[in-house]
Amino acid sequence: MKVYKLSFVLALFTAVSAYPLSDRMAAPEQNLIINVDHRSTVSLNGKWQIIIDPYENGYYDYRYQPKQNGYFKNAKPRNKTDLIEYDFDKSEALNVPGDWNSQQEKLFFYEGTIWYKKSFDYQKKPDTRVFVYFGAANYHSIVYLNGRKLGEHEGGFTPFNFEITRLIREKNNFLVVKVDNKRRRDAVPTVNTDWWNYGGLTRRVMLVEVPETFIRDYFVQLKKGSMKTVAGWIQLDGNQAEQSITVEIPKVNVKQKFNSTADGYVEFEFDAELQLWSPDNPALYDVTIKSQTDSLKDLIGFRSIETKGSKILLNGKPVFLRGISIHEQAPKSNARANSKEHAETLLGWAKEMNCNFVRLAHYPHNEYMPRTADQLGVLLWSEIPVYWTILWENENTLKNALNQLTEMITRDKNRASVILWSMANETPVGDARNEFLKTLIERARSLDSTRLITAAMEKIYEGENKPVINDPFGRYVYVLGCNEYIGWYEGLPDRCDSYTWKTIYDKPVIISEFGGGALYGFHADKDTRWSEEYQEYLYEKQIKMLKKIPFLAGTSPWILADFMSPRRPLPRIQDYWNRKGLISNKGEKKKAFYVMQRFYEKLKLTEQ
Ligand code: GCU
Repeated sequence: MKVYKLSFVLALFTAVSAYPLSDRMAAPEQNLIINVDHRSTVSLNGKWQIIIDPYENGYYDYRYQPKQNGYFKNAKPRNKTDLIEYDFDKSEALNVPGDWNSQQEKLFFYEGTIWYKKSFDYQKKPDTRVFVYFGAANYHSIVYLNGRKLGEHEGGFTPFNFEITRLIREKNNFLVVKVDNKRRRDAVPTVNTDWWNYGGLTRRVMLVEVPETFIRDYFVQLKKGSMKTVAGWIQLDGNQAEQSITVEIPKVNVKQKFNSTADGYVEFEFDAELQLWSPDNPALYDVTIKSQTDSLKDLIGFRSIETKGSKILLNGKPVFLRGISIHEQAPKSNARANSKEHAETLLGWAKEMNCNFVRLAHYPHNEYMPRTADQLGVLLWSEIPVYWTILWENENTLKNALNQLTEMITRDKNRASVILWSMANETPVGDARNEFLKTLIERARSLDSTRLITAAMEKIYEGENKPVINDPFGRYVYVLGCNEYIGWYEGLPDRCDSYTWKTIYDKPVIISEFGGGALYGFHADKDTRWSEEYQEYLYEKQIKMLKKIPFLAGTSPWILADFMSPRRPLPRIQDYWNRKGLISNKGEKKKAFYVMQRFYEKLKLTEQ
């Protein structure tokens, strides 16, 4: 990534002077290819042979040293005397994309290594480079092609790719991936989370074919604070770095020409008469970037997002975020979501609830979510899994979190629906934590100065029933997220009546979590935990309390649908499901769903 021209950096400083941090963290070199949906690709989805390897015997020898001839060699006995103690082609298979836990009963609780192998032939094309691209793999992956190591990736929720142009052959390629989802204290997330640790090649795998010099990455959005100036940059990858490049938006007769520098980089700005994207009018434009050697289309919306005091301004107008939180749980299934259909169902349910906003918790969801949100008109909060108490003073933990943040922003920075980057969820106040999170913000701002930055924080009490939002990290975010469980973990729903909220910041607040559990179909009086009536009453009481908060700019209750969690074993109620969904794991709407639907409908009407 090039150092931006002075004008660009100055704009950045003026834009963020309210947030006392310096931009000492320039973005690292990375080679992630974006917008694979509009490129020439070959899918490797489908059945992959697997070897379940809890002792990592395919990787380590008995001295716990990495082996030269591990399972990545996909070896076959050459004669009757040869000793080979594994055979992918006689082994069982799993579907990709897909977590392994929901595919086989014996893998339900499995945490460890599974080796995946995919064999394929490939028709080589002249002047074409080939990359193998993973939408995500949870948690740590080592990738090999034809017995050669391509590289490793850490983090279960962001994409990565490796170039294989020189390694791929016409016949009998074998791609082997060692995926390990063992939890580690120094990892991100760390060992305890309230979601299922789904393992495997959880998202799509494909070959991406590009010209020798291709358009690898670009940023095309409205300039910060403008509603008509498009600003951004383009990064070419390849030997022919200096090229003339055009950015075209045919619908508004835009055709702008630029020249890339010796390292294939160019920045640009131009004005255009664009319809602004919003939930009520999710206007998307065909944008084509053409260089002398490559051409790439994308579907992009243009909108501005800012804050003013405690208001969030979308296209210059205050907007209340009528939201809901969502986990990447496949609808009506105990599996991880991974498809366009899943995204359409989940976001469709949110729209049915009169939402204009969704908090994607607690990690970057698959790319179908932001792309479907662009089309349906749903504003998004996207977060990295810096969750609860990670190792704040561990350098590798910081590097890992920075990398996940970079990959998240790199993939989704051209999505109009994404308005908030969230750095963390419910992390304990402390110097090391504050420093860690400040470093993340600096990185986020160096990658994208146009969006709002937030985190889900917690409140403290200044007196009984007097919550105040004063987390020191609040100084550095643009929007304050606050999770609260009054009436569930804290007392009973009536407690909400006596609450008055305060904040020390003149900034918008999103109550990013509130709610309680209910088992669909269990009916009782409003004081009986787990009944639909208790949850319904809790929501009524919460809404009454929230309406009194003057600086409230949005809500994303916890949570749209029941989701799997190893922390929820209560028999015949939870059975490893967190039951705080407003919709059950079978897609049935609970009474509280309609409480939120009615509240948001009224809000919607007041906005018109
Ligand atoms: C927390 C947390 C969620 C969790 C929820 C719950 O606030 O952020 O990840 O699932 O509470 O307890 O249900």
